Amino acid sequence: MISNGSKNVISCENLRVQSKTIYMNITYFGHSCFGVEISGKHILFDPFITPNELAKNIDINTVKADYILISHGHSDHVADAVSIAKRTGAKVVSNFEVITWVNNQGVTNTHPMNVGGTWKFEFGSVKCVVAVHSSTMPDGTQGGTAMGFVVESAEECFYFAGDTALTYDMKLIGEFHKIDFCFLPIGDNFTMDIKSAVVAADFVNCNKIIGMHYDTFGYIKIDKPEAISKFAAAKRELILFEVGETKSI
Ligand code: NI
Ligand code: MN
Repeated sequence: MISNGSKNVISCENLRVQSKTIYMNITYFGHSCFGVEISGKHILFDPFITPNELAKNIDINTVKADYILISHGHSDHVADAVSIAKRTGAKVVSNFEVITWVNNQGVTNTHPMNVGGTWKFEFGSVKCVVAVHSSTMPDGTQGGTAMGFVVESAEECFYFAGDTALTYDMKLIGEFHKIDFCFLPIGDNFTMDIKSAVVAADFVNCNKIIGMHYDTFGYIKIDKPEAISKFAAAKRELILFEVGETKSI
């Protein structure tokens, strides 16, 4: 059942050891690639580092991963997935078609999922949620359906939107989860823009937004101070990382 009000919210709070005092270390590797440390495990999202001019100072061999979560098959989300998976032995989690592509390149530690599904991993649970976007692998093979992820752990609960348009489905995320922070694309052209991301933050009911998918290519250049002020005008905090920077969120 879905209605307004907090009654139906499946809160992460009861999972938390001490809410509000626990933070997660998050490292930005450029574009939509973030490393999130949860209970001592390193979760890497959408690895695209070596082809990214803005991430040229990142040494790919130092990127830690116990899990690699991939939102969809486009090269700006999977470019370094296979090499990092092979070096680290990380478990790759994505939709069935992306996992098939990864398997075909010799990566065997994988977990296929699809939109709507949830699975409990050792760091917490991952729920695959709707993203409105396409998904084709770099070699042209079928990349399944683009997804976002809701990660619930003992520490915090967060939403990684992947590449997506603004969609009313995001309201469901806000109704079913208490999102402590979220990663939203803000670069426009291939995904939603800043104005839509402000509305998305409202839909998921989250005050801390980490911006992604901006500035990497000419099509997605943004005015960062303007982006921050647009979120501030909606009483929400937009957090933008320098490439290589780690913050506790
Ligand atoms: Ni994409
Ligand atoms: Mn993309």
